[in-house]
Amino acid sequence: MGKVPAMSDPLQDIAPSGEPDRVHRHIRSFVLRQGRVSSAQLRYHEAMMAEIGIPYVAAPHNLATVFGRSAESAPKILEIGFGMGETSARIAAANPQNDYLGIEVHTPGVGSLCKLVAENGLTNLRIVQHDAVEVLHEMIQPGALSGVHIFFPDPWPKARHHKRRLIQAPLVTLLASRLKPGGYLHCATDWEEYAQQMLEVLSAEPLLENTAADFAPRPDYRPLTKFEQRGLRLGHGVWDVIFRRKMGLLEAEDHR
Ligand SMILES: C[S@@+](CC[C@H](N)C(=O)[O-])C[C@H]1O[C@@H](n2cnc3c(N)ncnc32)[C@H](O)[C@@H]1O
Repeated sequence: MGKVPAMSDPLQDIAPSGEPDRVHRHIRSFVLRQGRVSSAQLRYHEAMMAEIGIPYVAAPHNLATVFGRSAESAPKILEIGFGMGETSARIAAANPQNDYLGIEVHTPGVGSLCKLVAENGLTNLRIVQHDAVEVLHEMIQPGALSGVHIFFPDPWPKARHHKRRLIQAPLVTLLASRLKPGGYLHCATDWEEYAQQMLEVLSAEPLLENTAADFAPRPDYRPLTKFEQRGLRLGHGVWDVIFRRKMGLLEAEDHR
């Protein structure tokens, strides 16, 4: 076991992102603390990130080049906050026709997904270890994504921490701009009040429309996690919110 190196500013609330002339100030949706990382996670992190890691650089990236195949032949799906990556690896393995870009800040989780990618021989998954808000602003081009997954984002239950929640209007507008027309934004949570917030914020985004009357049934591509199965057995709820980008609106809008 080893210590996860702390970021230089682990508890900083306001993250400046991008270059000095393009600073997007935002409250971070995560706090990086020193934590334990297993030797296997460290080993796979070191070996695999050289192969499947995309270093954060504040410049637009062409995802076709990153994955070596076009969006037409392999739709690009982005996941924010994959945790330990079990769901990401299962989805990527079950859908070799798609390419998956996973974003996570937590080193043990990145190491864990690297291990799953290696063990399962996955060729359609890449990882950026960085704040997803900055990645979306700087690296992902408008209209580049066919889908976005945000599964069980940190609920930040205390009212004074709600400002840290990922699903808020500015991020949803940014996400909508990165989706191509018809592309989907799929959020899931086991926190009812956050589920309501998701529904309200996504409904208020003019570029998006709901795929269901309100909450959506869990689609087959999102596997049930062990944690979720246990919760469901105990009578806890899980809510899926799935919107899609409306067709026919201007494609090249960039909400910087
Ligand atoms: C509650 S966990 C859920 C993990 C996983 N999706 C699951 O269903 O088990 C939320 C994860 O999102 C990550 N996260 C939160 N904000 C993030 C951000 N702005 N950029 C990248 N990762 C973020 C956290 O590090 C954490 O691992």
